Order: sequence, then structure tokens, then C-alpha cells
Amino acid sequence: MADGPRHPAPVTHISLVRPDDWHVHLRDGAMLAAVVPDTARRFARAIVMPNLDPPVRTVAEALAYRARILSALPAGASFQPLMTLFLTEAMRPHEIARAHAAKAVLAVKYYPAGATTHAAQGVRDLTRCYPVLAAMERLDVPLLLHGEVTDPAVDAFDREAVFLERHLLPLTRAFPGLRMVLEHITTRAAVEFVSASPDTLAATITAHHLLLDRNAMFTGGLRPHHYCLPLLKRAHHRAALVAAATGGSRKFFLGTDSAPHPRHAKESSCGCAGIYTAHAALELYAEVFEGAHALDRLEGFASCNGPDFYRLPRNQDRVTLIKEPWQVPSTKAAGADVFVPLRAGEVVAWRLAD
Ligand code: NCD
Ligand code: ZN
Ligand code: ZN
Repeated sequence: MADGPRHPAPVTHISLVRPDDWHVHLRDGAMLAAVVPDTARRFARAIVMPNLDPPVRTVAEALAYRARILSALPAGASFQPLMTLFLTEAMRPHEIARAHAAKAVLAVKYYPAGATTHAAQGVRDLTRCYPVLAAMERLDVPLLLHGEVTDPAVDAFDREAVFLERHLLPLTRAFPGLRMVLEHITTRAAVEFVSASPDTLAATITAHHLLLDRNAMFTGGLRPHHYCLPLLKRAHHRAALVAAATGGSRKFFLGTDSAPHPRHAKESSCGCAGIYTAHAALELYAEVFEGAHALDRLEGFASCNGPDFYRLPRNQDRVTLIKEPWQVPSTKAAGADVFVPLRAGEVVAWRLAD
């Protein structure tokens, strides 16, 4: 029997095609300036979410926001922001034709009204958007979904699962050619729904939903920095997400949902939802894949499946991760504010080589 070593040497370096982040919140102003270097250092491109206040609703607004992002980049960075429009019931199909014509605008984002940060102008009745969705289907502009119902009668932990049956299934039947990404999935039900759907439906998975279950919100007390939407779920859901991300399916790809808020807005009697992970995004995913003995699948998830779905070329250059623990700072500055990164004051196992 020609067997190899029983205990292969642990992997200490990984080289992969440079990844992209298919779901990030870069904000604006001082916060944008504070966070964009973290994303640009790791990722060649990122889908930038449009939930500013007011939201990014037109191609003109998206191009202006893109210019602000580019001017906030560190000198020499070659990062490419991929822009999105915030879907409202007032949007008209000609805006989709404009988006289709503008190379820099890639997709439209659906937020149920009131579901999450700066989503007050989101959609109440999706059927009112059907002419816009028909234009998107015709011109092949993908729809990105914050997939939760806002019905207050539905338990907060069930809002994603109920969305699948109540909204996503009818949507896939009404627009079979519309390509969609179910963003930041958090449940076994979502994994199964996406896996069983045609290739028109894909999903992003965050690092924090792969690393944490809902106990993390309550360890030793209330932990506002582990509060995000959709909420962290039970351990068996986390296990299903890890299996989906590391299982080799091309339908699942990296989307950090890195979502910074000033510390005072999270440590509050009514704290904001969002977890900041851009400072260690790829490194945190590497921990997950290492834990699942699937480091060889990290590149597919982080660098290949996303561009393939969006029909963009994969990146040409590479990045290297080194197994070398480092300590995350307890806060980061954004103008006069500070914000708290995931793992603040604690250790991350992998480091991105310079
Ligand atoms: C995001 C934010 O703060 O913009 N928050 C979050 O908890 N994920 C919004 C979102 O992605 O739903
Ligand atoms: Zn969301
Ligand atoms: Zn988000």
C-alpha cells in the first residue's frame, strides 16, 4: 500500500487568485475613508451596497458614489468598486436600461422596507416592481436580495426561511430568467433552497455567519458587536453554511457583508445591525476552511465562483495567506468616531502577506 504520511505537515502558506467581495458596505465620508483601505488591500473588486442615507437610486447617483470611493482609495490601489442601485417602487424600467448601458453598475438590490439599516425606502409590495424586474430579466441585470420578511408576526429568527416560501419561490416562477443572489444566507433552509434551484440563483455567505452561532450574541452578557441582520442562527444552521461554502458548489461565494457602524450607534439602547469584518475578511474565511479541512476549496469560493456568476473575468494576480497569528485592534478610527472590528483585542490565525 503506497500510502502517504499519516499526519501531513500543517499548511502554513496558501496562495490563491486574488479574491473579490461580492457584498460590502463602504458607507460614505469619514467612514468610507476609514474602511475602504481594508477592502482594497484584500480584494480586487467588490459589490458595493447602495443603502446610504438617502439610498443610491439612480445610475447618476451610483456613478457619483463610485467617484467618491475611488478618491478615498490609498495611493496606488487598483481596487474596482462594482456599483448597485437600491430598488424602490418608484424605480422605472428606463433606469435599468441606463444601468445596463453603464459598465460600472452591475446589479439592483432589493431591501424589504424597514428590514435593515437605511432600508426605510425599500419595497413594500414587490408586484409594484414587476415592470422593473421584467426589464432586468430581459437585459440580464442581476437582482440581489436581502431575503427576510418584515412581518412582525414572524419570529425574528425565522424571517429568512419564511422569505423563501413567501417571496423567493413566487419570484423565481414569475421571472425564471432573472439571475438572483440571495445575500448573506444564514439558514439550512436557504442552503437547501439555493442548492435545489437552477443556476440563475446563487448566494453569498459571510465570514461571521460561518464562524459564529447565535450564542455569540449572549456570551456573558449582551454583545452588540455580534448583532447583524439576518441574525446569527443556531449551531446546526452554521454547520449547513460551512458545508455549503466548503463543499465545492459554484453557487456559493464570498460576500463579507462587512457593515461598520460607529461604536456609539451599536452600544446603544437601540443598537444598529452590522458587523465589521473587512480588516480580516479573507483571513477569517481561511480559518473556516481550515477548520473544515477544505483549504483547497477556499480559492473557488473566494476567487472563482463570484466572477463566474457575474460573468466577469477572474483576477490575474494572486495573494498569499500565512499561518501567523496577529491581534486585532480594539477599535479603529473613523473621523471623530471609532468602530469595533470583529475579534477586537483577540487573535486571527492567518495573516495576509504584504
Ligand atoms: C447592514 C448595514 O449595516 O448596512 N447590516 C447588517 O446587519 N447586515 C445591512 C444589511 O446588509 O442588511
Ligand atoms: Zn442585508
Ligand atoms: Zn449587507
